[in-house]
Amino acid sequence: MRTSQIMALALATRATAINILGVSIPDGLLTGTWYGAPANDFDCIDPQGRNPVILIHALSASREVDLNLLHKNMTSEGWCVFSQTYGSPIDPPLVGGLTEMTESAKDVGAFILEVAQKRGGKVDLVGHSEGGVQTLYVPMTQPDVAYVVDHAIALGPAVHGAHYFGLTDYFQSLPAPIPSLLNDAIKPLCAACVDMENNVGDIFLAFKNSSKIVPDKINATIIMSNYDTLVSPNVSRVDEPNVQNLIVQNFCPDDHLGHADLAWSESVWGIIKSQLQEENVHLICDNGLPFRK
Ligand SMILES: *[C@@H]1O[C@H](CO)[C@@H](O)[C@H](O)[C@H]1NC(C)=O
Ligand SMILES: *[C@@H]1O[C@H](CO)[C@@H](O)[C@H](O)[C@H]1NC(C)=O
Ligand SMILES: *[C@@H]1O[C@H](CO)[C@@H](O)[C@H](O)[C@H]1NC(C)=O
Ligand SMILES: *[C@@H]1O[C@H](CO)[C@@H](O)[C@H](O)[C@H]1NC(C)=O
Repeated sequence: MRTSQIMALALATRATAINILGVSIPDGLLTGTWYGAPANDFDCIDPQGRNPVILIHALSASREVDLNLLHKNMTSEGWCVFSQTYGSPIDPPLVGGLTEMTESAKDVGAFILEVAQKRGGKVDLVGHSEGGVQTLYVPMTQPDVAYVVDHAIALGPAVHGAHYFGLTDYFQSLPAPIPSLLNDAIKPLCAACVDMENNVGDIFLAFKNSSKIVPDKINATIIMSNYDTLVSPNVSRVDEPNVQNLIVQNFCPDDHLGHADLAWSESVWGIIKSQLQEENVHLICDNGLPFRK
């Protein structure tokens, strides 16, 4: 499903408003079909015995609005999928990924360990944008987490630096009217934006300083779009022997997806499932123009 369709659904569900960070959010938005992710079910059984999959959302998003449709899709296909909202400066944590990434990395790591312990085996990670950065940063810096990760898939991660305003602009591509409502409210709270910034960000420097980004035992994949103008492929790719760098257009030439669409594109969903299972699944290619960025 494309962002534009999701936006249309969102706009169709306007109702009265609740208040988050001093801005009004029509509560109908929160009941739209694009909203929400299945609850974490630690007793889930995947009939095919695949690794549990942990989804890690993007900047200024949450488990309910980013990678959530992939979450629903994979759950329907029998996968055991887990996610949490991390890095939220507000309670309830409706909008996450904003606090300092070195701090939220601890929450992300603890959640990965919790899933691995409860499930008793290795886990796979799939992260989008800032979540993709965490997908690489957390195993790089937490050896106990690296030990339990099998596959790590990052969608458009800003590994080699991004610009503050470019990243805060990311939520402009979430379904309307969230972007305009949250724009001014979030910018002053966004420590994570600075962490990924060129030259000064802690996370940017940690990647730059590290002799190897992906620990040897992890099979990693970076998925990128040539039409991503927020985080271009050369900012995302990691050239190491255990990392595959995949450009969506090499699989689906007509999918002109932008940065936010990496989470919604069914082309990307197929590539993710192929990488997780180390076998080619039949790809259903999305196509069309980027909605934004
Ligand atoms: C990266 O390396 C530089 C220079 O060696 C050092 O000053 C800085 O503290 C390091 N930063 C991180 C986040 O590792
Ligand atoms: C990526 O490419 C853009 C445009 O060609 C360039 O401005 C930028 O410096 C490159 N970044 C890296 C990390 O190579
Ligand atoms: C994934 O890991 C397996 C086992 O370590 C290895 O045989 C395989 O080549 C790896 N695949 C990639 C694409 O790195
Ligand atoms: C999940 O998404 C794929 C790719 O678009 C689609 O072919 C499949 O039917 C979806 N599965 C379910 C259960 O909706």
